[in-house]
Amino acid sequence: MKSMNNIKWHESTMSKAAEWSDEGYEAWLRFDPLAKSELEVYTDWCSEIILSEQSVILQAARAELIRGIASMLGRKPMVKAKPSKPRYLFVGTLDCAELEGLIDKKTRESLQEEGYLIKTVENPEGSCIVLTGQTDKGVLYAAFHFLRLLQTGQSLNGLSIKETPRNRLRMINQWDNMDGSIERGYAGKSIFYKNNKIVTNVKRIQDYARMMASVGLNAIAINNVNVHDVETKLITSELLPYVARVADIFRAYGITLYLSINFASPIQIGGLQTADPLDPLVKQWWADKASEVYRHIPDFGGFLVKADSEYRPGPFTYGRDHADGANMLADALEAFGGLVIWRCFVYNCQQDWRDRSTDRARAAYDHFCPLDGRFCDNVILQIKNGPMDFQVREPVSPLFGGLRHTNQLLELQITQEYTGQQRHLCYLVPQWKEIIGFDTHASGEDSTVARIVEGSIHGRPYGGFAAVSNIGDDTNWTGHLLAQANFYGYGRLAWNPELSSEQITEDWVRLTFGNDKTVMETISRMLLDSRTIYENYTSPLGIGWMVNPGHHYGPNVDGYEYSKWGTYHFADLLGIGVDRTESTGTGYTGQYHDIPSARYESLHTCPDELLLFFHHVPYTHKLHSGKTVIQHIYDSHFEGVEQAGELMQSWASLKGKVDDTRFTHVLSRLEEQVRHAKEWRDMINTYFYRKSGIPDERNRTIY
Ligand code: GCU
Repeated sequence: MKSMNNIKWHESTMSKAAEWSDEGYEAWLRFDPLAKSELEVYTDWCSEIILSEQSVILQAARAELIRGIASMLGRKPMVKAKPSKPRYLFVGTLDCAELEGLIDKKTRESLQEEGYLIKTVENPEGSCIVLTGQTDKGVLYAAFHFLRLLQTGQSLNGLSIKETPRNRLRMINQWDNMDGSIERGYAGKSIFYKNNKIVTNVKRIQDYARMMASVGLNAIAINNVNVHDVETKLITSELLPYVARVADIFRAYGITLYLSINFASPIQIGGLQTADPLDPLVKQWWADKASEVYRHIPDFGGFLVKADSEYRPGPFTYGRDHADGANMLADALEAFGGLVIWRCFVYNCQQDWRDRSTDRARAAYDHFCPLDGRFCDNVILQIKNGPMDFQVREPVSPLFGGLRHTNQLLELQITQEYTGQQRHLCYLVPQWKEIIGFDTHASGEDSTVARIVEGSIHGRPYGGFAAVSNIGDDTNWTGHLLAQANFYGYGRLAWNPELSSEQITEDWVRLTFGNDKTVMETISRMLLDSRTIYENYTSPLGIGWMVNPGHHYGPNVDGYEYSKWGTYHFADLLGIGVDRTESTGTGYTGQYHDIPSARYESLHTCPDELLLFFHHVPYTHKLHSGKTVIQHIYDSHFEGVEQAGELMQSWASLKGKVDDTRFTHVLSRLEEQVRHAKEWRDMINTYFYRKSGIPDERNRTIY
């Protein structure tokens, strides 16, 4: 990996940070100076770092520790081979000579590949805090965790922290195009590409790698799943040297690089007549292609594939199925240890809205369940959290419970396509917690999505989390500063799905805004409430899609009602909702195992918040809450707007406690949110009032 030496990793990184920090460039890695009370003890431990090994990743760990400690304590630590004082930090992998005899056998054995240990150890030279792991990646994660302890003001007495990631893959999908645009991007342009080239100034990519590693993410696909003409060439010798440079940057932070590929590449760039996965020439072409890619990037992760989905080419053209397509690529990558990540977002996107027999929600399960057991071991199916498409409320995709013999990756969307596009505050960690905690009952009780994707329930070799990134080249990365919390929270959850929303949120607020109690409590509350608030003024009871077509921002109740996309609410003068029951509807409820299936099938047990996803009911239907559907629509929309106003007031109460630049920026986003929430409220309420003719019990203004 020669090219690694050509880039000076850490020197340029964050050089601009100081002047940008006011706007949030440093995100949760600000390392603001600490309060006096903590300085003395921390300095005692942190003024000397003992580090003897030299791998690229350990150099990154070292650079992070120096930067973070210097910034928080106001004094740069010395890095030495031997300690010269009784207290110090020791940084290195478990197998280094210095740790012999200091860490017991049991602890050593319990640490898995990327796991780490932060431990206070007494030794003949004095006491040290050991930051160690089985591999240098583990050490890097330990370094970031240690910095987090300092930043959040934790005690360093008798530390004994052992962490192992629950998921093997903790991945980010960039939906970046080489012209610099980002599909569903709401924070500026791509940090990877400009004018159909990979950028030469890689500073932001380096800083992004730091952010990812700091929350434990370990994989990234750097181009959009919709692979257009130029991006198809990313796997050619013309562009691979540039891709390799990007891989070098991520490698230094323990992150493996993947590319999205075009299934029709053999035709488009290979000069073949076909992309048929069973054609020997096609197989050979991909095998050669794989070895070419690995010549440039020896630790390349593999291919991410959107095939036969939304007009993308795929095996269907040749009468083959998804297993044929995925396995052919898997064979090509196998010799190099590469993976195929095959997306399950496959449905009929040319539906006739008059056709009531086709239900888009059924599609992923119908396509992929019959193929269970046919995929190679180095194929992972990437499944969107819900059966539709990242709405603010959907049930969990039944495919997670359906597949038993296939590796699975949960796909989440950090970018807020349907949840306010980073103009509205919508913190998604609580939603993700619901999703990963959903009990599929695939193997009895406690067959949660979290346990399925980590691979433990069905004993699968690969699995984990993937999510669509929300970052761009806006100075603060995410457009809305508070949307940084979604990225942060995603990483922490992918590492440990058991963490509570509250814990993750508190950590993020402390790292980003400091340890003031009022600030911490106020911002945490805002974040934790925001998804319900957004849901209240937008989408009632599991009905999605009432957005403007194309860009998906803002209310439009019938925007998708007469379209080809399979996204309908079926509202008429009497009622609303989609009958997805087995008894009278599309049969979608039958895709779940008995217990969730029965719960959704019956009007009596279907949870209110998903009622209209599963049932078509009259506006006068009484919910478990005691309200009628129509009154719920009115009430939640009035309430949502009030709550949005409260979000703004909560933030306003922090004036003087948050620096002016970040304060003003967030305030202006919240003001826009309140204005826009009113638009949602009035459009939705007016629409349903006019449809149903039923007045609001409380006689509020509806137009
Ligand atoms: C959504 C989104 C598209 C994206 C697609 C996908 O439909 O609007 O922009 O390409 O999901 O996940 O492939």
